[in-house]
Amino acid sequence: MALISSSVQDVATLLQQNQIAAIPTETVYGLAGNAYNETALKKIFELKQRPFYNPLIVHIKSVKDLNLVAAHVPAQAQLLAAAFWPGPLTLVLKKQAHIPDLVTAGKDTVAVRVPNHPVTLSLLEQLDFPLAAPSANPFGSISPTKAVHVANYFAGSSLTILEGGECSNGIESTIIGFENDLAVLYRLGSITIEAIENVIGPLQIKTQSEATPTAPGMISKHYAPKTATILSDNILESLHVNATKRIDLLTFKNRFEHQSIVAQQVLSPNGDLAEAATHLYHALHELDQLDLDLIITEQFPKHNLGRTINDRLKRATKK
Ligand code: TXA
Ligand code: MG
Repeated sequence: MALISSSVQDVATLLQQNQIAAIPTETVYGLAGNAYNETALKKIFELKQRPFYNPLIVHIKSVKDLNLVAAHVPAQAQLLAAAFWPGPLTLVLKKQAHIPDLVTAGKDTVAVRVPNHPVTLSLLEQLDFPLAAPSANPFGSISPTKAVHVANYFAGSSLTILEGGECSNGIESTIIGFENDLAVLYRLGSITIEAIENVIGPLQIKTQSEATPTAPGMISKHYAPKTATILSDNILESLHVNATKRIDLLTFKNRFEHQSIVAQQVLSPNGDLAEAATHLYHALHELDQLDLDLIITEQFPKHNLGRTINDRLKRATKK
């Protein structure tokens, strides 16, 4: 059975023995192991059932450790790290030679960030290696934002989960790579395009090339509930068309009345996108657990975190 633990010391000991453990971050929980150790890395892929072509994010305790992992840091990357670390921004940089191929899927780049969570920062302080960690969910499913989500996913394993409460951002990090030293957005995430452009100016966006998934979050079907899920342009019409079904409704700020609605989650009655992002995966987990016939969701405003939420909903509803 999976175990939820509040002891940073116990989890540090496990990781030092090249075991893996789930850790909290401000975005989602991660499934962590020693980024320098192949035995630990293989355990991550095995438990998550993640294909080896999908590389991992390396978590470091401070920007001071960046040169342990990255061989070259373009000027724009330095500006972004200074502006957003610790925080939900992942930088894809030329890797140091000693970073194992399992971390990078054989690429010459490595994804790295400093997570902004006090428990995991104190864990990293106790370790003399960085932690490679993908989100702590089976490949393709909804990311976990609470320890109990991880425990439910891996109930049949002996995984230890470090308790860190509910994730404050609730949606994955934004991933930025560099082409000719200029920033390129690979995955929409918790840091908005607007916030990044405030620091470095106009940003090239390459999140659509699903044929060649440079970043795993780019794989088109992802973040998916078990329940059939649709993204609606018109909630009332979708309710009408599906009137014989038992429906879960997931909306931004409006509540709806209809006889087929069995459960309803309104992410932010005040229309606050950050609040909606924080609650998105939690609400999807709750609705999915009810095992009804259909989850109906809607398009969010197409700016700031609304773009990130729409990206995740689009992938969650992809057939
Ligand atoms: O917020 C987050 O980023 C969370 C927490 C745990 O840090 N982690 C996370 O990991 O979302 P994961 O594995 O679910 O997504 C990592 C993404 C993948 O889409 C992968 O393709 C991309 O990072 N990635 C990793 N290394 C890369 C590389 N060298 N080049 C391009 N993309 C890379
Ligand atoms: Mg993931």
